[in-house]
Amino acid sequence: MQVPFLDLKVQYQSIKDEINSAIQNILDNTSFILGKAVANFESDFAKAHNVKHCFGVSSGTDGNHLASWSLGISYGDEVIIPANTFIATAWGATLCGAKPVFVDCESDSYNIDPQKIEIAITGKTKAIVAVHLYGQSADLDPILQIAKQNNLFLIEDCAQAHLSEYKNKKVGGFGNTACFSFYPGKNLGAYGEAGAVTTNDDTIAYKLRGLRDHGALKKYHHDSLGHNYRMEGIQGAVLGVKLKHLTKWTEARRRVASKYREFLNNLEEIILPAELPYAKHVYHLFVIQIAEGGSQKRDKLVAFLNENGISTGLHYPIPLHLQKCFSELGYKKGNLPVSEKLAENGLSLPMYPELSEVQIEYISDKIKRFFGK
Ligand SMILES: Cc1ncc(COP(=O)(O)O)c(C=O)c1O
Repeated sequence: MQVPFLDLKVQYQSIKDEINSAIQNILDNTSFILGKAVANFESDFAKAHNVKHCFGVSSGTDGNHLASWSLGISYGDEVIIPANTFIATAWGATLCGAKPVFVDCESDSYNIDPQKIEIAITGKTKAIVAVHLYGQSADLDPILQIAKQNNLFLIEDCAQAHLSEYKNKKVGGFGNTACFSFYPGKNLGAYGEAGAVTTNDDTIAYKLRGLRDHGALKKYHHDSLGHNYRMEGIQGAVLGVKLKHLTKWTEARRRVASKYREFLNNLEEIILPAELPYAKHVYHLFVIQIAEGGSQKRDKLVAFLNENGISTGLHYPIPLHLQKCFSELGYKKGNLPVSEKLAENGLSLPMYPELSEVQIEYISDKIKRFFGK
């Protein structure tokens, strides 16, 4: 049996007519950049996350930049960022000229450890970035409290966490700004590059509107600096169609996760991802850990699954503090041990809404076989 890590074709087939007609509509109207489809999507997406403003942008990475830029983060500032995340989380602050300060993750949620934030705060710290990694929200209450006590901004990176919840409230409205990715493989994926920035703050919203579009609220009147970070019309149209299916797809992902739990229960050689009581996990990724044997054993398991037609992923093999691009910051191996251990032992299993029970059982059986069970 062949099990891809992700299958975008099967999802497209299930909504082909709706998607094709939405794209045709953009072609007929030639509304290729922003326009009605994007505006409708922005409003629907804001509603879905209970947040006041949403701006469709050109990618999640650009959304990260805007989320920092709109808060005035700049040269000489420091921004606290989890070490266990995708590199784009760090570009936001870095592109604004600020220094990223990396903090370790919790061993159960794999999200930024609130207890390790305070020690990283200096007189230069301006913001904390909380990433809701793999689809599970970071523990926001203690983070918000630290932000308040120290007069810091909170930025949420929700790239992997569409419709994810913290204490029964959707993510994306807890921070001063939040950014989302609609990279095709995300829980809500465009058919190209796309992202969004959300905020509940009217002043920040005003800035975001300009920053996304050359600093101009009126064509050729550039009141502030800006850039071309606009969402394309076709992406807005595709996302508008797909958003209507997202709740159903999210529940399907949660069912896939519970099937994995059922089949892999009691297998001591692996650690299953924890679902924290405050979170509604949306399972962008299902990341297990090898209990013993480190990266060598993990890599053997990857090869064994591959031989059996199963594709897997590593999220992420090198934590940000050990990436070459940040070598000047002087971090060393051993500085952030929880993130480093996860990088060595972690393995992402296939995860998408259409994954069948037969496929999940097949994957689980092969994992058990690898461990001689
Ligand atoms: C946590 C995180 N932040 C930011 C991004 C950047 O999003 P994009 O790929 O849309 O630029 C991603 C995408 O992989 C991500 O996973």
